[in-house]
Amino acid sequence: MIVVRGPSDETGFSDSLARSLGAKLVGVEHKLFPDGESYVRIPADLGGETVIIVQPAHYPQDKHLLELMLLADAARGAGASTVVGVAPYLAYTRQDKVFRPGEPVSIRAVLRALHAAGVEVLVTVEPHSRSELEHFPGKALGVGVMRYMASQLAPGLRDPLVLSPDLGGVGRAREFAEALGADFDYLEKRRDRVTGEVSVRPKTLDASGREVVIVDDIISTGGTMALAAKLLLEQGAKRVVAVCVHALLVGEAYAKLKSAGIEDVVAANTLPVPPGVEQIDVAPPVAEALREALGSG
Ligand code: R5P
Repeated sequence: MIVVRGPSDETGFSDSLARSLGAKLVGVEHKLFPDGESYVRIPADLGGETVIIVQPAHYPQDKHLLELMLLADAARGAGASTVVGVAPYLAYTRQDKVFRPGEPVSIRAVLRALHAAGVEVLVTVEPHSRSELEHFPGKALGVGVMRYMASQLAPGLRDPLVLSPDLGGVGRAREFAEALGADFDYLEKRRDRVTGEVSVRPKTLDASGREVVIVDDIISTGGTMALAAKLLLEQGAKRVVAVCVHALLVGEAYAKLKSAGIEDVVAANTLPVPPGVEQIDVAPPVAEALREALGSG
């Protein structure tokens, strides 16, 4: 079994995954041609090996996804017995249906392209929805990490109230809360599909005097988290911590979270994050899921 560190992995995810699997780790020769095209080469003998390529697909996501395809093609061409693509963060998952006529199901197009390039098993962390991976023609694993993240954060939390910013994410809040033996609830959110404007209304929670952990899969612009935190602090919450898996933190998102009164921002190591964000290494539960899926332990 060989783990390949793709050029977009800057968080040490592949190193940790290789350690957890007891596998050899190899880097990639990578450069850009003068016209901007990517060149990749895996400098190892891959014949007969299970080759696990780690390539998070954050910005520039199109380039990172294409490099994963190139690496899969290289591994297949070099005689790998199985090619596994690990995109700890997988782009395009939020366009998992046609919201307005004329749109693509973007995640379907991406998953089909990855498979056609040679990815036989696809692994990602905490996908936006489980059903979107059904578009992958091979075997796909969406590794949930909420319980694992909760167990890592447990020592720093005191009787927290765990909240999802919306009903869609309440399953994550439930998993996180169950691992802590804590209460959970959700906030009602409305997003205007055209203007992108978000408004938040409370459901049945009383955050007054509580330490609140808001749990989401993605923080992108920070708008959802910042609004939720502001509302909860207005309701008398004692402290607000933001926990997400994928901290995209676009532009000034981190500053927005801090100025909304969020004390700590915690994310998984599925993509690089700005200074100040605490990162939890989630490669160990991914290794466990992979071992089970590949029948090697
Ligand atoms: C949406 O369905 C996701 O679960 C997140 O709530 C959303 O992507 C967060 O986006 P933003 O940080 O831009 O509000």
